Amino acid sequence: MKIKHITPMGYCYGVVDAMVIAKNVSKSPDLPRPIYILGMIVHNHHVTESLEKIGVKTIDGENRLTILEQIDHGTVIFTAHGISDAVRKRADEKGLTVVDASCPDVLITHEIVKKRLADGYQIIYIGKKGHPEPEGVLGIDPEKIHLLSTLKDLENLELTGKLFMTNQTTMSIWDVGDIMQAVHVKFPQVVEHSDICQATNERQLAVAEQAVGCDLTIVVGDPRSNNTNRLAEVSEKQAGVPAHRIADVSEIKADWFDGFDDTSTVAVTAGASTPTAIVREVMTYLKQFDGYIPSSKVTFEDIIPRGAVRDLTKKRENRL
Ligand code: F3S
Repeated sequence: MKIKHITPMGYCYGVVDAMVIAKNVSKSPDLPRPIYILGMIVHNHHVTESLEKIGVKTIDGENRLTILEQIDHGTVIFTAHGISDAVRKRADEKGLTVVDASCPDVLITHEIVKKRLADGYQIIYIGKKGHPEPEGVLGIDPEKIHLLSTLKDLENLELTGKLFMTNQTTMSIWDVGDIMQAVHVKFPQVVEHSDICQATNERQLAVAEQAVGCDLTIVVGDPRSNNTNRLAEVSEKQAGVPAHRIADVSEIKADWFDGFDDTSTVAVTAGASTPTAIVREVMTYLKQFDGYIPSSKVTFEDIIPRGAVRDLTKKRENRL
């Protein structure tokens, strides 16, 4: 069978920056120990395990204000998903040293929401319940920011006055479009600002276009990664191609390829938080389907990329 490498796929700049920040913190002798990450720095267990090996411990849980109480001293790193002001304030009160690895794209959403709130708007925020990115945004003003996860949630929403709507950066382009359309019908006064990040946009469009005509799409990424799960959905709904999401090569099942022959094509893509080395193993496995035994020799440097944190100031100014 043929393998089609969807492009672009995998790591985005926000994820790379977050991991490089965490790695630099672990090497910095001036920062107080122990070093914690509040939640998974990006949603991939290969990444959290690699960081653990260099002394950066992940404290995970549903609500970051609650899990922060487990930390009494040392350094705390905020994840790429962004954090609410309430958590920042509590970390200060506890005397923790804070390092912020929030993705600049998420911080832009925070700033846009804050500006609209100051101008007297209520906010309709389209995002996934229980995901840390909406938790960070809703924490800005839980009374005036209303989370919509599905069209059903809209039925129970009764609002008047100035309304502004935006969304989680890693949602499906099509789902957000559908929900925004329905919100416009119910609240004609609403002002819309679609805020899917460029990396998510490009990866979803690539699957929608390039997977067409393939027999199967394999999406590599962690089950908790929203953008990864959306890629599988895009393959099925937009390209009409069945998809399997796998965390790594060990989850591939041989019977997925029953009936495939030389004319069959398997498309491969990966979420923005999936290490390149994990994708490479999947590609190698698929190309040598007969008898290849996957290697477990993925190194730390394969997971946490080398390189410096970019200066993103210019990009932020442009976006705002
Ligand atoms: Fe940021 Fe988008 Fe990546 S929000 S972390 S650039 S998926």
